[in-house]
Amino acid sequence: MKNRKDEHIRYALEHRSEYNSFDEVELIHCSIPKYNLEEIELKTQFAGCEFEVPFFINAITGGSENAKKINQKLARVANECGLLFVTGSYSAALKNAGDDSFEIVKRENPGLKLATNIGIDKDYTAGIKAVEALNPLFLQVHVNLMQELIMSEGSRNFREWENNLREFARNIEIPIVLKEVGFGMTENTVKKGIELGIKTFDISGRGGTSFAFIENMRRENGLHYLDNWGQTTISCLLNLKKYVDKVEIIASGGVRNPLDIIKSLVLGAKAVGISKVILELAVNYEIEKVIEILESWKNECRMIMCALNARNIRELRNVKYVLYGKTLEFFVQQKED
Ligand code: FNR
Repeated sequence: MKNRKDEHIRYALEHRSEYNSFDEVELIHCSIPKYNLEEIELKTQFAGCEFEVPFFINAITGGSENAKKINQKLARVANECGLLFVTGSYSAALKNAGDDSFEIVKRENPGLKLATNIGIDKDYTAGIKAVEALNPLFLQVHVNLMQELIMSEGSRNFREWENNLREFARNIEIPIVLKEVGFGMTENTVKKGIELGIKTFDISGRGGTSFAFIENMRRENGLHYLDNWGQTTISCLLNLKKYVDKVEIIASGGVRNPLDIIKSLVLGAKAVGISKVILELAVNYEIEKVIEILESWKNECRMIMCALNARNIRELRNVKYVLYGKTLEFFVQQKED
């Protein structure tokens, strides 16, 4: 039998996004900076925790033998590099009592900065089980409407989502992060989330992994005209700029390198999640090489911050930028609304 989680990995790796909004942001650099490279700090805080590095391994997988191997590798990398590691949706473990593809990361890396994930279609008791099993720093609750709609075996009832989210916020004792899966999140969703008790939002936008593409590949008659559904990561960040001091905005979706990370932070994100690109590294390289690449990313973030005259993540918000193309058009039109 085909495993859904393995198919997600397979089609995520196969997919190439034809457009990435990060390419339409240009940062204005500084030729005479105030700081030495070694003075630049990468620390950030969100969901009640402090992190040494502003990027992390975002939700990917769990729930199959292959997923377990990937989790083991990614968790070791995260542990060595001091990065936060977020597992894929814990519901895979709830369906199968014998599954240890999530728990193993904790067992093998006791000091790991770990968070986990569950779907908004579940009620809060599923969240409590995930929290009891993994003792995570926070729980991501994902929204994935178009994925469910395209998926033949997906949910068809959505009326309970709002109440589920309210109950997650009320009953789970660790911070909840409301998270998209690559379709993007804008003001209407964030407003609703705030109303329901959410303080941290991972806007996970279009530009990288497309769950519309992935589910279309799993269907008999793929609705590929929907592959580019949703808003881009940069459009979402621009749309939510007025919220960056009211709630915590996390960026993800299409982040490829340290420059994309810094662009997200300039636009107000508190931290930046990466799934596809790190999954690719894990699949293509030995652990030591992945660690070397991600260690280098930390230095590259510092280099870029130095060239932008920003000593820390907070000062990045003062950096000026220019927008081009579709991103500029989105920005202008949503301002006129
Ligand atoms: C994901 N993503 C995801 N998100 C989530 O909230 N729960 C999940 O279980 C999964 N599973 C998953 C599997 C695979 C194979 C991939 C590549 C991604 C979505 C992920 O966390 C992120 O929001 C998007 O992938 C966009 O980021 P990237 O991939 O463009 O960096």
